[in-house]
Amino acid sequence: MKGRVSPTKIAPGGSLTLPLSVLGVTGLTAYFGLLNIGRPPAGDTVVVSGAAGATGSIAGQIARIHGCRVIGIAGGPEKCAWLTGEAGCAAAIDYKAEPVADTLRHLCPEGINIFFDNVGGAILDVALALIARKARVVLCGGISRYNAETAEDLPPEPKNYFNLVFQRARMEGFLTLDYAPRFAEAEHALQRWLTAGQLTYKEDIQPGFTNAPKTLLRSTAPFPVASNESRTALPRQLYPGQPCQLT
Ligand SMILES: NC(=O)c1ccc[n+]([C@@H]2O[C@H](COP(=O)([O-])OP(=O)(O)OC[C@H]3O[C@@H](n4cnc5c(N)ncnc54)[C@H](OP(=O)(O)O)[C@@H]3O)[C@@H](O)[C@H]2O)c1
Repeated sequence: MKGRVSPTKIAPGGSLTLPLSVLGVTGLTAYFGLLNIGRPPAGDTVVVSGAAGATGSIAGQIARIHGCRVIGIAGGPEKCAWLTGEAGCAAAIDYKAEPVADTLRHLCPEGINIFFDNVGGAILDVALALIARKARVVLCGGISRYNAETAEDLPPEPKNYFNLVFQRARMEGFLTLDYAPRFAEAEHALQRWLTAGQLTYKEDIQPGFTNAPKTLLRSTAPFPVASNESRTALPRQLYPGQPCQLT
């Protein structure tokens, strides 16, 4: 049946956690979002927001594996160092400490070919202003919106969407579940890159069901804790809005 998700079978001795992280929903989301919506030719400049998160970190690395120049946007020096070190990004922007628009403009003099967006709001707006001709904006998530309790709390951006017209560009959302018939293809590719040492990842494992409430509560902490790690114990997709430094 179209869209049906089969149970994941783990081979004897196989990792119990990989199917919840790189080979799980976040890895599959990165794979289909980047390759099907972004469609990267080698040499493209790819910018990823939420780049040190579970999905963003894999999306950036898949782009790098496909010969793209990858720039990650993340919060904090530790995550940025991980992005340019282990994850192989050409550059990383700490949106909590740097002027994102100026730095991105400097890093992408020819414009952004693919923007893989996990965040939405002000970060998406900055990227829209800098897209290149025929760019692809992949709408994966909108973390900056998730804690809004009323319509007034929602970020007012993006205001620069009309640049899609000037740049003959495309902005498209997607849902990973729609790719269920192709999950095996993505799992094989991700596994192949892992085995070849081309893909790296971190897992955040909180053992014991009794730790579940504590782990869930971390997602409402003022700032995400150690969030360059894939969420293995529980998905964490709700974050308080944080002001972005954009000038
Ligand atoms: N389309 C689909 O089918 C699909 C499927 C799965 C997930 N998703 C989406 O993918 C996105 C990422 O999910 P994930 O599980 O990978 O998340 P995650 O591992 O929890 O990482 C999210 C990252 O977002 C950053 N962040 C948090 N609040 C922010 C803010 N206000 N402004 C900018 N950045 C912020 C955090 O990093 P910093 O500390 O660096 O800010 C965090 O590392 C979510 O939006 C989720 O809904 C979409």
